[in-house]
Amino acid sequence: MAVEIHNKEGIEKMRATCRLAASVLEFIEPHVVPGVTTEKLDELCHAYILDHKAIPAPLNYKGFPKSICTSINEVVCHGIPEKRELRDGDIINVDITTILDGYHGDTSEMFVVGEVPAHVHKLIDVTRRSLWLGIHEVAPGKRVGDIGAAIYEFAHGEHGYGVVEAFCGHGIGRKFHTEPQIAHRGKRGRGKRLAAGMTFTIEPMINEGSPHCEILDDDWTAVTIDNKLSAQAEHTILVTDDGYDVLTKRDGAFSM
Ligand code: MF3
Ligand code: CO
Ligand code: CO
Repeated sequence: MAVEIHNKEGIEKMRATCRLAASVLEFIEPHVVPGVTTEKLDELCHAYILDHKAIPAPLNYKGFPKSICTSINEVVCHGIPEKRELRDGDIINVDITTILDGYHGDTSEMFVVGEVPAHVHKLIDVTRRSLWLGIHEVAPGKRVGDIGAAIYEFAHGEHGYGVVEAFCGHGIGRKFHTEPQIAHRGKRGRGKRLAAGMTFTIEPMINEGSPHCEILDDDWTAVTIDNKLSAQAEHTILVTDDGYDVLTKRDGAFSM
């Protein structure tokens, strides 16, 4: 499958869908509190996305049953919204993908429910920073391996965390998941070359312990093999003529 290089019109459509996906995270944040079920968060996001003339991409995607992914604590990614209530001390990743005017925008964020110990805040902070260190590598002529190297050197090399290799970032546009694959571990100067007009996600999953995952019997939920915590952050990025543009950036959210 070829890498999509967007023209001006395609870029504007990517901007619009990514702005919408980012706004879903802003909308849902105040609802992420103790006692709320992840099913309720799903319902709220589903309605918000339809109200904005868009479609939630996960719903029925390869059989996924809900409109968003909610990944709590040891869940690495692809958690299915359900009746489980959030409790004080949980951490949760909410992953939103919109389809607006035929174009996909994909972004996720970590939320803390009530109070968590300092080591948990550190895991989330390192995860967000690793995403942004990857983003800083993006420019025409750079390679996919530059992104993975920056993330891995920081999250594993400096902090000793497990960097998940079973799931990657991905090209995104008229299709949800396309080339290039963006691994969160790599070698500088290796891999596909980046070019202006490409859009892809970077979405590192960083584990307190082992980088290895296991898929539950629902065929979706990926959990850490040691049941230790996992965190993730995701943005959709446009390669510009002189660097990058973070299309899912939100005012007031973490950035570097
Ligand atoms: N949004 C996820 C990603 O970042 C993919 C979810 S696929 C689903 O690529 F089917 F689980 F929704
Ligand atoms: Co993604
Ligand atoms: Co996503």
